[in-house]
Amino acid sequence: MGRGITQVAAQAGHPVLLYDPYPQALDKALAEIEAELQKAAERGRLQGRVEEILERIETVAQLEPCAQAEWVIEAVPEQLELKQQLLGKLGELNPQAVLATNTSTLSISAIAAKVPRPERVVGLHFFNPAQRMKLVEVIPAVQTGEEVVHRALELSRRWGKEPVRVGDFPGFLVNRVARPFYGEALKLHGEGVPREHVDWILRGMGFPMGPFELMDLIGLDVNYAASQSVFKGMYAEPRYRPHTLQYQRVAAGLLGRKSGEGWYKYPPGPPAPPAPPKADPASAPLAFIVGPNALAQELRARFRHTQEVSEADFVLDCRVLLERKADFLEDLPVVTLAWGHSASLASASYGHRPVAGFSLVPPLGEQTIAEVMAPLSGPNAASEIAKRYFEAHGHTTLVLSDQPGGVGFRILALLINEAVSALAEGVASAAEIDKAMRLGTGYPRGPLEWAEILWLKPVLRALEGLHAELGEDRYRPNPLLRRMVAAGLESFGSIAGLTPGASPVSKESA
Ligand SMILES: NC(=O)c1ccc[n+]([C@@H]2O[C@H](COP(=O)([O-])OP(=O)(O)OC[C@H]3O[C@@H](n4cnc5c(N)ncnc54)[C@H](O)[C@@H]3O)[C@@H](O)[C@H]2O)c1
Repeated sequence: MGRGITQVAAQAGHPVLLYDPYPQALDKALAEIEAELQKAAERGRLQGRVEEILERIETVAQLEPCAQAEWVIEAVPEQLELKQQLLGKLGELNPQAVLATNTSTLSISAIAAKVPRPERVVGLHFFNPAQRMKLVEVIPAVQTGEEVVHRALELSRRWGKEPVRVGDFPGFLVNRVARPFYGEALKLHGEGVPREHVDWILRGMGFPMGPFELMDLIGLDVNYAASQSVFKGMYAEPRYRPHTLQYQRVAAGLLGRKSGEGWYKYPPGPPAPPAPPKADPASAPLAFIVGPNALAQELRARFRHTQEVSEADFVLDCRVLLERKADFLEDLPVVTLAWGHSASLASASYGHRPVAGFSLVPPLGEQTIAEVMAPLSGPNAASEIAKRYFEAHGHTTLVLSDQPGGVGFRILALLINEAVSALAEGVASAAEIDKAMRLGTGYPRGPLEWAEILWLKPVLRALEGLHAELGEDRYRPNPLLRRMVAAGLESFGSIAGLTPGASPVSKESA
């Protein structure tokens, strides 16, 4: 990371002293920076000449020359004592510099505690690769002076980055809000969903990669360490608990691409998703669509259906609340939205009719995969109809075992709930949470914007249903979501009375 940050600073026109106690690490870093710059120049993407940028970088094997620096940014191995000692020493050598740490998991306040004049310590969390990723989390410690925070935001902007001010909490913002992307995927896999199905469904929703292929890229060990660190930092809050499946693979040395095998073997890597079927809506069974929510509206706008239940081949019930589902009297097969419950639980509500669960996550695109959940009694006429219906509309359809919530929605709902909890705790503002998740992870949209697309009430009701059926704390809706729905608020931008907790969220960004 030190090499990437050096390149960013030098490209922005700043002279850099690059310190590392291992000379071979310095040689390697310079060679890699030069190769990166050459590549950028060949593609016509470099401002300035390679030699000119390289001339701004001076490598040093001693700390003393750093006494003159205006900024010190450390990216040494992730050990609290090492960072405390190094910044402490640099703080003595250089009484003026802002001392920044690129830690991904350690408390900035704990690092600052061992540094002379801790008010000049700040977290500057770059994302890998630093020379390409736009996001920088700027994290004040509780000791950090406001002026230092402003300087850190300003420096990041001058370096061409998009800084987001974030509270000093475990995982900061992106690593915390992203936990369910992995955690819930692992849980679903542990419940029997094939990992490639999870990956295909999430890619179909617009994520650049599925959770398992992404863990393989990051390294299972690195991802497991991040899970453990947030879990520990949150005092064993159950929703952050790492999964035994992670431990097993790491212990077995299956670390992902770098070791030749993680969740997949390399080569060939993850299997490609099946090509979507050719759309032929006229051949689709005729649906009677029930429900008022955003999904029902999108389906009515684009999918074959009738307003007359007497003409319908089946009922597509898009309501979320299980209790509502008992009041449907037509004697037709039912394909019912499973966001808040399993198909098996729903089948009791519809009496003797064949019932299947389904999940689709708006906004629907060409790559969206339809999920069909057969109840525990097995596939039936309703699951057959569901598959034919979604395929006739051009959507790859996977018939899965009976997962309450489905796969894509369940992962997204927990990302939303985590983003709401970060908002409620004042880790960052709603707009900054969404921006950070888009820039830091490549998500197609921020979790809070996504919640608004789905509508907040169905998301809340689904989480309540999952909490009731699965009985685990991780599905408990954040009270802020509950209060917003009770108050009739549809957008996070319209919250007026949100008082951040102990976190120093800036007045500018709040
Ligand atoms: N790799 C990532 O994706 C990533 C992303 C964001 C933040 N970070 C954070 O950046 C920091 C560095 O991570 P990395 O992946 O670049 O690690 P790394 O092991 O690749 O690099 C660490 C460098 O520190 C040097 N070093 C070791 N001991 C030192 C000391 N006593 N003084 C000075 N330098 C020393 C090593 O020679 C090496 O060049 C960590 O805090 C990590 O959490 C990493």
